[in-house]
Amino acid sequence: MTHAQSSSSTFDPAAKVFRLDGGRVTYVFGVNSRGELQQLYWGGRLAGSDTFPAAKPMPEWSSFDSSYTTTPQEYAGWGSGLYVEPALKVTFPDGNRDLVLHYESNQPTDGGFDVVLKDIQRPIYVILHYRIDAGSGMLARSATIENRGEGPVTIEQAAAAAWALPPAHYTLNYLTGRWGGEWTLTQEAIAPGSRVIESRRGSTSHQANPWFAIQAGAPDEDHGEVWFGALAWSGSWRITVEQDQLDAVRVTGGFNPFDFGYVLHPGEKLETPVFYGGYSSDGLGGASRLLHRFELEHILPRTAKTAGQTFPRPRPVIYNSWEATEFNVNEAGQMALAEKAAALGVDRFVMDDGWFGQRKNDHAGLGDWYVNPEKFPHGLKPLIDRVHSLGMDFGLWVEPEMVNPDSDLYRAHPDWVLNFPGRPRSEQRNQLVLNLARQDVRDFVFGFLDKLLTENDIAFLKWDYNRNWSEPGWDQLPPEEQKRVYVAFTRNLYGILAELRQKHPNVEIESCSGGGGRVDLGILRYTDEVWPSDNTDPFDRLTQQDGFTYAYTPQIMMAWVTDSPHWLNKRSTSLSYRMLSSMQGSLGIGANIEKWTPEETALAKRLIGEYHKVQATIVQGSLYRLISPRNGSEFSATQTVNADKSQSVVFAFIHSTQEGRGFPRLKLEGLDPAAEYAIRPIEGKARSDTPAQASGAWWMSHGLDMDVDFRGDFQAAAFRLDRK
Ligand code: GLA
Repeated sequence: MTHAQSSSSTFDPAAKVFRLDGGRVTYVFGVNSRGELQQLYWGGRLAGSDTFPAAKPMPEWSSFDSSYTTTPQEYAGWGSGLYVEPALKVTFPDGNRDLVLHYESNQPTDGGFDVVLKDIQRPIYVILHYRIDAGSGMLARSATIENRGEGPVTIEQAAAAAWALPPAHYTLNYLTGRWGGEWTLTQEAIAPGSRVIESRRGSTSHQANPWFAIQAGAPDEDHGEVWFGALAWSGSWRITVEQDQLDAVRVTGGFNPFDFGYVLHPGEKLETPVFYGGYSSDGLGGASRLLHRFELEHILPRTAKTAGQTFPRPRPVIYNSWEATEFNVNEAGQMALAEKAAALGVDRFVMDDGWFGQRKNDHAGLGDWYVNPEKFPHGLKPLIDRVHSLGMDFGLWVEPEMVNPDSDLYRAHPDWVLNFPGRPRSEQRNQLVLNLARQDVRDFVFGFLDKLLTENDIAFLKWDYNRNWSEPGWDQLPPEEQKRVYVAFTRNLYGILAELRQKHPNVEIESCSGGGGRVDLGILRYTDEVWPSDNTDPFDRLTQQDGFTYAYTPQIMMAWVTDSPHWLNKRSTSLSYRMLSSMQGSLGIGANIEKWTPEETALAKRLIGEYHKVQATIVQGSLYRLISPRNGSEFSATQTVNADKSQSVVFAFIHSTQEGRGFPRLKLEGLDPAAEYAIRPIEGKARSDTPAQASGAWWMSHGLDMDVDFRGDFQAAAFRLDRK
């Protein structure tokens, strides 16, 4: 991937045209003759000498399709006969609901512009923020809505941005799923009407993820134009992809307007989330490589130790106790597991649920964040000391935003949960959601976490969130103000995470929500990794990992090796297969390693050693999906290449061979054709006549053949190539 590595943002005051250039991308919009902000171009980088004439609104198609509705506006208010998705919809106290936003002024900012819009009559202002990244050409767009009037205004719908594409045949890619089955890549032709991708659940959700990619024509991994975007918001969100009556496409995303109603008082502002957008001419693979790099460089946090580094450090290889012990944790048991984990070469030991309050199962204890005295009579210190003496650091599970009704916290503060007074409080997993929007709840959550991290030498928190909202009332506020909870809850969550990281600058955090229910570019500004799914079946994980990496870098994709047969599908697989499946991401071990045979222990130890040596290439390199595991494929394969093309790692998996078919020849990608690369197996064998060393051109044009006996069910192989 070569970047132009420069950016510029220019405004032509005569034509009133704004232009942003970065990476291999140009984005252009202008003020049209009516005064609206109109999109003019989004695609491959244009020559500096190319200019655009002033924006002209689309002509009226018919009396039913006015120019207001067919003109691709950058940020349209709902008014003047707009029938497509508005960016902003408001109600004024006098009943007026017409909002027409026209250009006022602009200001250059670091890497872009702030463009000010205002309603044609009333003092509602919208400041649109635009920024382009020099390396990747990724755009960051968001809006600040300001009430400079005398009375309150209710915002019923507020997008971060709207993106527009001209009429053509497109394929929409998006990610859907359920608990235990997140990250299904769904692909469909864009057709007239709207496709709504959303969460109404108060958090990001397992069921849909705030990411999209639109490809011109049919889906293609390696070729063709792709426009993609990701919304940085962990509350209820919505992305609407619509094809209008003239076949133009718009993508509008931001706060979910369902049950939304934010009262903006005089002088108040509402900031929307950021909607990132990118463009690649190298197919879906090119799009995800750009996005991965952008996440690594610009989204993911750094600790004090990694401050200023281009990429965050690769994740420590962890051991996690959940599948081995569930709630049955205690000092002796965890120490025994820690010893086994250390012998495998694990870097971090994480104790999961069960260590606090009266937490014997999922019926009680959430909210009571004291160390359970029966399980840990001397507190956590002896365990943490033992873990340290074994050469690992220590991590702990928490679920800060939740409470079991059977807890001291709930008995003391029944009013702290989301609820409508007098109505039932629906439990899920026997728990209720604390209203984090409340200042007292925010103080409590920050307080106990700060104390935990101050009093104990904890390097890592697994921050869980095991249900979605119901009855989202905030009864401290007057009825018309209560819907603020959709914004205030998530902002307080971000605030707590930011403050904790500032006060404990070396602590790392994982975002977990019963698996992958809270993964988005908003939470990823404050968390170092995520738990993609509670489903750890190594075969299911291949498809999940494939889907996940369309939107997110393998750096954050935690993948544990657990026991066989697997608890979910009852499927039996070899340890080698399980290890290689997890080694595609950030490796962890979550099995009951007390029960492992000496052979299993030795194999895992060897592979963890191999993994450590190539981990940076796997999780931070350029990812090529050579063969997709989707759609019942017999085979799958991925390859990653590091930034200077000195190393590459290849993974090959067999689901189940049929009719004796051999593994397809793998034509590698992204190597330096002129350089020589030596190949070495990490696990498995190449065909016996494979050269020990050959040019990048050989590996890419001739390709790599697997051993002729690489057949059967659930088989795996991995290779590394090193430049000579
Ligand atoms: C969630 C997480 C699991 C585990 C349990 C503990 O389901 O996703 O990994 O931590 O909670 O209760």
